[in-house]
Amino acid sequence: MSDNRVHLIYFSPTGTTRTTVNAIAKGLAPEQTCDHNLTFAFDAQKQHLADGIAVIGIPVYAGRVPVDCLERLSAYTATDMPTILVALYGNREFEDALVELRDVVTTQGFKVVAAGAFIGEHSYSTPERPIAADRPDAEDVQAAIEFGRQVAAKLAGGNHDTPAMDGNVPYKERVQFGGVAPETNPATCILCGRCAAVCPVRVIKLADQVDTQADNCIMCTACVRACPTGARVFNHPLIEERRAMLFKNCSTPKAPKLFL
Ligand SMILES: Cc1cc2nc3c(=O)[nH]c(=O)nc-3n(C[C@H](O)[C@H](O)[C@H](O)COP(=O)(O)O)c2cc1C
Repeated sequence: MSDNRVHLIYFSPTGTTRTTVNAIAKGLAPEQTCDHNLTFAFDAQKQHLADGIAVIGIPVYAGRVPVDCLERLSAYTATDMPTILVALYGNREFEDALVELRDVVTTQGFKVVAAGAFIGEHSYSTPERPIAADRPDAEDVQAAIEFGRQVAAKLAGGNHDTPAMDGNVPYKERVQFGGVAPETNPATCILCGRCAAVCPVRVIKLADQVDTQADNCIMCTACVRACPTGARVFNHPLIEERRAMLFKNCSTPKAPKLFL
């Protein structure tokens, strides 16, 4: 690779986007990796990235880039930095998330040279109703590493063109979230605070019980995954309905889709 530094910029409440951008970085084989984890970047400082390659990863929420990602990403600018985009989705569809991400980061000075839609375990997956459970798996990680290698070869050949990618402009209408959030069973909660610690939007407070401000919850389920006793659950009727639909219609494993 001609440029020896890779900037990993990602938002990843349940870790699948993070795993994927790291695998791509492995394929790029840089001398140095700079980690910009936006998941807990509550007061992200403005940063102009001077040199290297960027890998920018986001989870797909309702076919779009989550609003919190856009806000946190807005702290970053660059000057024509070669950039790989990753949209991580839960085996339903990624719809307009990649083209939206492309348009946003391009205005911030990143030069998109490749993009990939990868699959990760759906946030609403449960052992009873698995949806892309345990993905990215070994095959996904290998595909991401190989993708990194291919992008490195493209750049080494002097090609910095932005590829065509799936998605529509104007983007699909944004779905408004809020008012629905995971709940805690006080009988099994040990008040350890893991749920509050992993919440990327800080809506969980601990007192003599766990208090969740549902209005600002982004429904990422990081708190559910982190709970050591299974006290934290997301079984709201709207989510149960969504989970059943996803389990029924989106259980056939999809393959990563790459744009070079
Ligand atoms: C609010 C919300 C909306 C989602 N919308 C979609 C979607 O439109 N298509 C899809 O395939 N997966 C969707 N997912 C699943 C996530 O994209 C998937 O779980 C992803 O792996 C999460 O990334 P992370 O592990 O980096 O947090 C959604 C998840 C949440 C929480």
